[in-house]
Amino acid sequence: MPTRKPAVLFVCLGNICRSPLAEAAFRREAELRGLDVEIDSAGTSGWHIGSPPDLRAQAVALRHGVDISGYQGRQVQAEDFSRFTHIVALDRKNLAALKRMRPADGAELSLLLDHVPGRSGEAVADPYYGDEAGFETTWGDVTEGARALVDRLKR
Ligand code: 4NP
Repeated sequence: MPTRKPAVLFVCLGNICRSPLAEAAFRREAELRGLDVEIDSAGTSGWHIGSPPDLRAQAVALRHGVDISGYQGRQVQAEDFSRFTHIVALDRKNLAALKRMRPADGAELSLLLDHVPGRSGEAVADPYYGDEAGFETTWGDVTEGARALVDRLKR
């Protein structure tokens, strides 16, 4: 059977802070490394459907050279488990929610930092209730995770 082109969905709670930043970092890393992959992000909640990313997330991405102002929040759907080969949660609570939704033959589930040697099981902390510095920490974490995930998919 021919190997299917990878398709990766990043998932957090609101789809306005962490998962759009993971999407942006992974898009850039995949392009730099020549990985052909479909990429999107979503939230387990429906709180920010249709909204652009949080302004602090937009700002940190732009500081690192990526414009995410056109991204729009959406909620995870049942079809995502067949549309994507990998669904990557940003924290354990969202991973647990995805496990409850996943059909038997659905996309492989993981935490983003599971892919980083020595950081398996770690969550990307929610920066929503914090300050700008928290968003820099998030950017660092999602970039590290994105690099490691590209490494894995290139193998
Ligand atoms: P995210 O952050 O899950 O990284 O997008 C949050 C965004 C919004 C809320 C919580 C977390 N909220 O409570 O609206």
